Amino acid sequence: MLSRKASKDSHGQDSSYFQGWQEYEKNPYHPIQNPMGIIQMGLAENQLSFDLLESWLRRNSNTMALKKDGVSAFKDLALFQDYHGLPAFKEALVNFMTSMRGNKIKYSSDKLVLTAGATAANEILMFCLTDPGQAFILPTPYYPGFDRDLKWRTGAEIVPMHCSSSNGFRITRCALEQAYQLGQELNLKIKGVLVTNPSNPLGTTMTKTELNHLLDFAIDKNIHIVSDEIYSGTVFDCSSTTGFTSIMEVLNERNNNNYNNIRNHVHMVYSLSKDLGLPGFRVGLIYSNNEKVIAAATKMSSFALVSSQTQFMLSNLLSDAKFIKKYMVENQRRLKRRKDMLVRGLRKAGISCLRSNAGLFCWVDMRHLLSSDSFEAEKELWKRIVCEVGLNISPGSSCHCSQPGWFRICFANISEDALHLAMHRMKVFTSSIFSVRFPIIMMRKKSF
Ligand SMILES: Cc1ncc(COP(=O)(O)O)c(C=O)c1O
Repeated sequence: MLSRKASKDSHGQDSSYFQGWQEYEKNPYHPIQNPMGIIQMGLAENQLSFDLLESWLRRNSNTMALKKDGVSAFKDLALFQDYHGLPAFKEALVNFMTSMRGNKIKYSSDKLVLTAGATAANEILMFCLTDPGQAFILPTPYYPGFDRDLKWRTGAEIVPMHCSSSNGFRITRCALEQAYQLGQELNLKIKGVLVTNPSNPLGTTMTKTELNHLLDFAIDKNIHIVSDEIYSGTVFDCSSTTGFTSIMEVLNERNNNNYNNIRNHVHMVYSLSKDLGLPGFRVGLIYSNNEKVIAAATKMSSFALVSSQTQFMLSNLLSDAKFIKKYMVENQRRLKRRKDMLVRGLRKAGISCLRSNAGLFCWVDMRHLLSSDSFEAEKELWKRIVCEVGLNISPGSSCHCSQPGWFRICFANISEDALHLAMHRMKVFTSSIFSVRFPIIMMRKKSF
């Protein structure tokens, strides 16, 4: 009954990433009504700072009443459907990005296209830059939703670039070359590389060295770079080596004429879903120096517009520079506190995490809990964690990680109490594994 396009399995809904959510929905944890239920730790949502946003809304009730300078803007907003977006909102967005990223670059509103979230932004870029059968290289592990967002409706392909725990999953020139080679063996024309910076699922920012490798590679192969920077405002540890650097900043440092071509090949994606915790508002954007890409993406954005009342409301919120600055600092402080809580809890359960400085999740090493070094063993462990321990977490294989035993655990979508309970459950679980594997050592430990 369905078209071949609609029934194509590149949607990826059979991945364990989505299966875990289904299990969670059958038996969701609730502190009173269902305390034995599954705790949702597979959802990269930021619910830590709603109190700040809500108190701003209470103080600015005109915004919710759709009033501007005390006069109703209802009719204008109800009729507005220009796909270029409200100028005031685009201006507020670029000013927000400029200041949030330390004024290193002055973003300009005519290089920006509004989209309904980063999902639409990524798909539109794939639509604009690839023909069916052409491919983008993606470093693994990557956000499981990319299989759907990049491939499903566009016909584009993903060529994985395998990163390894041996260097903290960093991007190297050698791994980029290998992925390019793989694309050629598969008979796929490589049109670009797409990275997430900070990374989902790693929770790490890319170093300037990595970004420069990426630029050199793209110049060398004459291909595009898409940098999904949706987590850029979550960076909670900003020492000089670990802070956030946008691809646009590294590009700007190469400002002589030799680099004109690459300037047109670099595109950035952003959204308010993570930094402001507003995925339901569906606000995203594409930012590019390439006029042709901006023109084509603007036409395509007809299919994924941001509603005018959302644009109105958020242009008022983002224009309150003092509030936004305070919000970002406080939100980052809360994220760090949560992340530290998760890392400590896991450590008590004998589990370590990749060192991270951003995002709403940790990349967790459970290789020592596998019954063998295989993806079957990873799946077996994952099923036990979902069904017996009652935690929905995402196995590395759903993020296309090439090494079994890594898992993504989210920490910003649940209460502190639920996080403590989750860690307690993990500790009981790992102790039970160790007491089966090493009964004598465990008995001795208990007798101390
Ligand atoms: C890397 C990345 N890109 C895009 C998205 C989708 O974001 P949005 O809600 O803005 O569509 C997500 C959501 O988790 C993500 O992690």
